[in-house]
Amino acid sequence: MTVKIGVIGAGSISDSHLQSYSKNAEAEIYAICDLNEQRAQEKAKIYQATKVYRSYQDLLQDENVEAVSICTWNNSHAEIAIAALDAGKHVLVEKPLCKTVTEALQVEEAVNRNQKVLQVGFVRRYATNTQIIKQFVDSNDLGDIYYAKATCLRRLGNPGGWFADKERSGGGPLIDLGVHIIDVCWYLMGKPKVASVSGNTYARLGNRSNVKHLSFYKAADYDPDKNTVEDLANAIIRFENGASLMVDVSFTLHAKEDRISVNLYGDKGGAELEPALHLITEKNDIILNATPQTDSASFDFVQAFQNEINHFIASVKGEKETLSPVQDGVEIMKILCGIYESSEKGKEIQLNID
Ligand SMILES: NC(=O)c1ccc[n+]([C@@H]2O[C@H](COP(=O)([O-])OP(=O)(O)OC[C@H]3O[C@@H](n4cnc5c(N)ncnc54)[C@H](O)[C@@H]3O)[C@@H](O)[C@H]2O)c1
Repeated sequence: MTVKIGVIGAGSISDSHLQSYSKNAEAEIYAICDLNEQRAQEKAKIYQATKVYRSYQDLLQDENVEAVSICTWNNSHAEIAIAALDAGKHVLVEKPLCKTVTEALQVEEAVNRNQKVLQVGFVRRYATNTQIIKQFVDSNDLGDIYYAKATCLRRLGNPGGWFADKERSGGGPLIDLGVHIIDVCWYLMGKPKVASVSGNTYARLGNRSNVKHLSFYKAADYDPDKNTVEDLANAIIRFENGASLMVDVSFTLHAKEDRISVNLYGDKGGAELEPALHLITEKNDIILNATPQTDSASFDFVQAFQNEINHFIASVKGEKETLSPVQDGVEIMKILCGIYESSEKGKEIQLNID
């Protein structure tokens, strides 16, 4: 039996979900919903969905829908996820899980009371390059990972629209891009318990919608007029086991070019996940740089989404456990919200104090 899917939110990222569902033989795209009904209808035509809804509540009342992808603005993730779980649906919710830790805990309660699958859209966990490094981590080739450093700098890339409206997004590059690279480091470090965070956010350059002759990712309803989010964030995250993670992310910055790098450093070896896979170690008093020979040396967006959707469907069918459960979404929200709080207060914030 195929799993009947409802996709809520038919904007830019919904295509990655819809394309991946359409390539999974166990899934059937059954319903599509968007506040903008025409947008939902257009997607329904392309992906041959049976039903179109304007209201997610109506979609959730449809008993044929077994599982949903939530691809809406961040401010509705928690509300829709809780309603979907309470309606007996399995949920794949796009990152970030939600906007606040309080909301995250409410989603966790809803998962616990309904015993349905909730997968957080930490798509980088499902990427083949991440899984290759994970195998080396699991076989202890890196030893104890005590430091990680991740950077995701866009020199020009504020997507505008809701992304730039703090009310609907919860923040700028930290909650949008930082969520991915913080999560992938934390996952590969073995999910150590967070002790404290210290961060800085800056809104110094605006969205630079004045810049000409350079394209960038835009929300479905691009609108450069409103911008209430930071354009740069940096942070240091300390873990109870003594490890630390340093991050910086931007929507815009006077940088020569965009840059992504993700590095892990252990006491037996190191690993570079981005921009391309490398392993670093020492043998016979010689430092060795090893390059895994693979077609997946960097993050492959299309393949990672396919892996994520395939994993979700397998989890819904009870064949696998999700790699990104709600508890992990809660911990990442604590880190992100802690960094914003630290920046506001100008001091380090302690987390997970029992
Ligand atoms: N995993 C990734 O790499 C990745 C990449 C981009 C975006 N995202 C996430 O996906 C989500 C959507 O981003 P996007 O780029 O597609 O935005 P978008 O603006 O292109 O699309 C969002 C759509 O959701 C609809 N919508 C909003 N609230 C709704 C509601 N309550 N009910 C029904 N429809 C509603 C909007 O009308 C819009 O069509 C965000 O949470 C974003 O963080 C993830």
